[in-house]
Amino acid sequence: MDPVYNPYSPGAGRKPAALVGRDQPRSDWNVALDRVEIGRSAQPFVLYGLRGVGKTVLLSDFRRSAQRRGWLVAQVEAGADKSLREALGEALHAPLADLARPNAGRRLLKALRTALSFKASYDATGTWNFGLDLSDTAGGGADTGVLETDLRKLIHDLSDAAEEENVGLAILIDEAQDLEQAERVAICAIAHAAAQDDWPVLFALAGLPSLPRVLAEAKSYAERFNYEKIEELRGDVAVEALTRPSADDGIDWERAAVELIVDESAGYPYFLQQFGQDTWNAAEGPNITYADARVGAARGRAALDSGFFRARWDRATRAEQSYLRAMAEDGDEGSSSGEIASRLGRSAASFGPIRASLIAKGLVYAPEHGVIAFTVPGMAAFITRQAAL
Ligand SMILES: Nc1ncnc2c1ncn2[C@@H]1O[C@H](COP(=O)(O)OP(=O)(O)OP(=O)(O)O)[C@@H](O)[C@H]1O
Ligand SMILES: [Mg+2]
Repeated sequence: MDPVYNPYSPGAGRKPAALVGRDQPRSDWNVALDRVEIGRSAQPFVLYGLRGVGKTVLLSDFRRSAQRRGWLVAQVEAGADKSLREALGEALHAPLADLARPNAGRRLLKALRTALSFKASYDATGTWNFGLDLSDTAGGGADTGVLETDLRKLIHDLSDAAEEENVGLAILIDEAQDLEQAERVAICAIAHAAAQDDWPVLFALAGLPSLPRVLAEAKSYAERFNYEKIEELRGDVAVEALTRPSADDGIDWERAAVELIVDESAGYPYFLQQFGQDTWNAAEGPNITYADARVGAARGRAALDSGFFRARWDRATRAEQSYLRAMAEDGDEGSSSGEIASRLGRSAASFGPIRASLIAKGLVYAPEHGVIAFTVPGMAAFITRQAAL
């Protein structure tokens, strides 16, 4: 069928035609927005899970629901060549510029001035002015150079301004496992202070399965955050992810075709989208048959092998690849790092740098101390296929 109308969307952060199976966290988030709007506090949300399960898509959905209510919203990605300070500063510019106006209230003007000082803290040549003369306005001071102090001042003044505008402030941070330690500590401490004093601010962090542990290590009160494990889609929900997008175009799937793709993808959203896309393109129409799904699954597997998996594999050095090969023997479940070391005939300590580099590259994570696992579902099987070549 015509690829121009293909409704499937494999790809990092790509909004699916049907966002299924996330009703609970979406409704929890809306309750939190409601709470903040009536002056109550809400704990930060932490979305964690393997690669390709849909964390970014859900985080962006959170962002849109805050934006629909007119909230002041910043969504950033940690570790993407920018410090948290700079990423947040830049993400806040557009929403603040939208609010800026000469007859703005006192608290908004103050927040704008504080945002200017925050900008100056990482960009000496920065020339924001919001088109306003703020020289007689209170505020500023978010430029001491100490991240926690500056960020606290910024978030405090911005949430105060949001309140004046009858909305709230939402800060969303993707890939939060890549935050620097000082950044993690600052976010946890500020979220804690905000909850104690009922600032109208809501945080959401998304990241790999190691995120809850690294947050708890940063600050013990992070244990009270609102943790949501994002997992593969099961049963009817996986069926819906596949059938709803095409149903909008009046195209149905044969039952056996759906079962094959749900089975092949093990319900992982990324894989469902990939196989859905390839099956659609293989189909003659008007409906999608089992034969189409077989072709789609084969093409989808080839596409994942040469793209999704291959890109990650190629990111590893030869020494790292041999470590990954040793891990692959244990499948997707994870391996004891001591066991891997003895498999490779060296001491566990000598593999410290390799492990650290693989973690930094986002290929593996430590579910608990002494254990190492792939961040990508199906990676072990892919590596085993490579080894057989
Ligand atoms: N609830 C869902 N229903 C249907 N498709 C989904 C859903 N969530 C995500 N997807 C699809 O899955 C793919 C991966 O989504 P996303 O990039 O959000 O995953 P992620 O968990 O952020 O992955 P990574 O850890 O690599 O950043 C995208 O193609 C997206 O369209
Ligand atoms: Mg993501």
